[in-house]
Amino acid sequence: MAVFRNSEDLGPPDAVAILSGKGGTGKTSISVSLGYLLARCGFKTLLVDLDLFTRGMTFYALGEYPQRVETSLVDLFTENEARERSIRPVLIPSAFTDANLFLLPSVAEGRDSPADLHLSRDFSTLEGFRDRLERIIAGAVDWYGFDYVLIDTRGGTDHTSIAAAYAAGSFILVTEADKPSWDMGRTLLDAMDAAGKNRGGQVQNSGFIINKSVLPAKAVGAYLRREWVAPHLGTIPLDQAVIRCFQQDRVPVAEDVSCPFSRELAKILRKGFVTQNWTEGNLKRLKRVYAPGILRLLRRLAGDDDGF
Ligand SMILES: Nc1ncnc2c1ncn2[C@@H]1O[C@H](COP(=O)(O)OP(=O)(O)OP(=O)(O)O)[C@@H](O)[C@H]1O
Ligand SMILES: [Mg+2]
Repeated sequence: MAVFRNSEDLGPPDAVAILSGKGGTGKTSISVSLGYLLARCGFKTLLVDLDLFTRGMTFYALGEYPQRVETSLVDLFTENEARERSIRPVLIPSAFTDANLFLLPSVAEGRDSPADLHLSRDFSTLEGFRDRLERIIAGAVDWYGFDYVLIDTRGGTDHTSIAAAYAAGSFILVTEADKPSWDMGRTLLDAMDAAGKNRGGQVQNSGFIINKSVLPAKAVGAYLRREWVAPHLGTIPLDQAVIRCFQQDRVPVAEDVSCPFSRELAKILRKGFVTQNWTEGNLKRLKRVYAPGILRLLRRLAGDDDGF
């Protein structure tokens, strides 16, 4: 939406919320990894951990005990007196991301994840929450000049997730290739439509990703394209490498660029994020990430396995 401003020449940053009707579809894995890739391509990227209840993105990006984080999003949305308190994006330390990747964390240093979190009354409605979120992100963008903003959400029809989509102006839906996941995706889309109609907001459905797929997903993709009237950005297979990397507190696209998850995500990036704002340099950097990945994959296929 119009609140986002970029200090560089690229125009307003692209902001997108990552949603899913059903929990556990891979929103956090995908949004963190897309952030790593965008940063690697040379874009200054802001991740927003708006899953205030589980702090998954903050965990993946900063480890179990986030250091140097004084104020978190949980603080801003739960403490009335802290309403105008400011929050600073934290640099995610990684050689892969070239100091281009930042996070608005959900949890601050030394604080546990809140088991029973209660939002302040002002933020218990969609409008109240969205307005505050827009101002928080606009503040970060004004200050740091981000090219991309990716918002990870709690999932389901929770008002914080819907508010994230309206604040960003666009969303990507992550689904698994099974009926409960599609049905819950439909429920979420209906809730978003209703929210837009009631309150006059506008939001773009930027497409869907099928994750953890174990079957050829062409037919499912075609079905969902019709059902959800949105582009099919890609299908990511169920991939052990994802689980292994995240268990070891590492992000797959920065560690194992030849695993199926990383390769599919690079394709999704090309399909969903490459715009006229991308220079040859940005595209070359994306190719360079995957050149060693492809060589490793070929070695692995030839039986010269490097430990996996
Ligand atoms: N393509 C994949 N293959 C295998 N495992 C995956 C894949 N994508 C995600 N996972 C695993 O699935 C689990 C859930 O992923 P993740 O936390 O990203 O989902 P989520 O949608 O953010 O969940 P929540 O709704 O709880 O926030 C994690 O253990 C993650 O490592
Ligand atoms: Mg999550």
